[in-house]
Amino acid sequence: MAEHKILIEKIKKLKKQKNAVILAHNYQRPEIYDVADFIGDSLKLCLEARETDADIILFCGVSFMAETACILNPDKKVIVPFIDAGCAMADMLSIEALRKMKKAHPGVPVVTYVNSSAEVKAESDYCCTSANAVEVVRRIEGDKVLFVPDRNLAGYVGRQVPEKKVIAFDGYCPVHDMINAEYLDDAIKTYPSAKLIAHPECRQEVLERADAVRSTSGMIKAVQEMDAEEFFVLTECGMIERLKREVPGKKFYGLCNMCFDMKKNNLESVFRCLEDEGPKVKVDKNVASKALLSLENMFDIMEDHG
Ligand code: 13P
Ligand code: SF4
Repeated sequence: MAEHKILIEKIKKLKKQKNAVILAHNYQRPEIYDVADFIGDSLKLCLEARETDADIILFCGVSFMAETACILNPDKKVIVPFIDAGCAMADMLSIEALRKMKKAHPGVPVVTYVNSSAEVKAESDYCCTSANAVEVVRRIEGDKVLFVPDRNLAGYVGRQVPEKKVIAFDGYCPVHDMINAEYLDDAIKTYPSAKLIAHPECRQEVLERADAVRSTSGMIKAVQEMDAEEFFVLTECGMIERLKREVPGKKFYGLCNMCFDMKKNNLESVFRCLEDEGPKVKVDKNVASKALLSLENMFDIMEDHG
């Protein structure tokens, strides 16, 4: 513990010296929360990355998040403790597979979940996050969209926006897709009065039973507002610690799995990364400028529709 305290102080001092900001996803280890300037879901972190005037962005999350920060800040240094911390869902969709899908549905706009590579974003019309996917799809003109790479989020969006046909790529998050209805039924018996809060990357059979479906940061707001004391949290396990810190008066039970790539970072690796100013995240200039358009189309929809 004393070692942690010393490292936290060293990281804070280095951040000041180097004019660096630390952005951390909600699923990070709790020790990372203690040095982060901003903790949030993908949307909040995109917005913070877009606003910051720091010279260095140290991203604690997975690679698509750091790449997004890089696309939004082509002139800044974006660094990560582990360059190989990836997202299994993002890795399921290759650029070739997306091109094939576009060829089979000519002229249909492509909405790409932010959990995707920079190359895939560059081939897309709109980006979205779990917090705004429904609104983005609802606001696009036309009656069809291609939605990649998450089939579960695509299905959820399609049920919320029935006036549009949502054509999904068959990708998924193994961490969320593993939670099934049977697993849920057994757990509910132990705490029957607990409400269910689910991430939209979960399967339909899980989402249909949930009392609220939210992005990770949306979960914090939902439990603060809901008139209940106990919750089952259906997402990555790190969210439980985050909820306990943000909403200390309520109880949280995990029906969750671990995303190991999200757990790679710790205080030592953050300190090393800041000291070395690397590894540095790189996105090809051409790819970044095309991917930026899909992100800007998302921001435009959000700005036009609050
Ligand atoms: P959020 O944007 O809701 O934080 O989700 C990101 C993610 O990777 C969930 O698995
Ligand atoms: Fe990707 Fe799933 Fe991990 Fe989120 S939890 S970063 S979607 S593998």
